[in-house]
Amino acid sequence: GDSFEVYCAQSDITVEVGSDQSIAKALKGAGIKIDVSCEEGVCGTCITDVLEGEPDHRDHFLTDEEKEDNDQIAVCCSRACSKRLVLDI
Ligand code: FES
Repeated sequence: GDSFEVYCAQSDITVEVGSDQSIAKALKGAGIKIDVSCEEGVCGTCITDVLEGEPDHRDHFLTDEEKEDNDQIAVCCSRACSKRLVLDI
């Protein structure tokens, strides 16, 4: 997919997520470490709260209902439909 921007509300840091990297890797590169385990959208370790924006859910952990709420995202594998996501980190 395309690149997009993630704004980390608590840290007040904006991170550009390239088309070839995960949100988790982009955040790590900016010094924001999020615990990951499976990195395949299965375990739920990396689930992070979303404050704004529309996630492009690629995981198999959240239920369909949870995905529709757009208030959580698996940052190891999911991406963004909107140009910008705001995360509660
Ligand atoms: Fe397992 Fe993201 S690390 S779902």
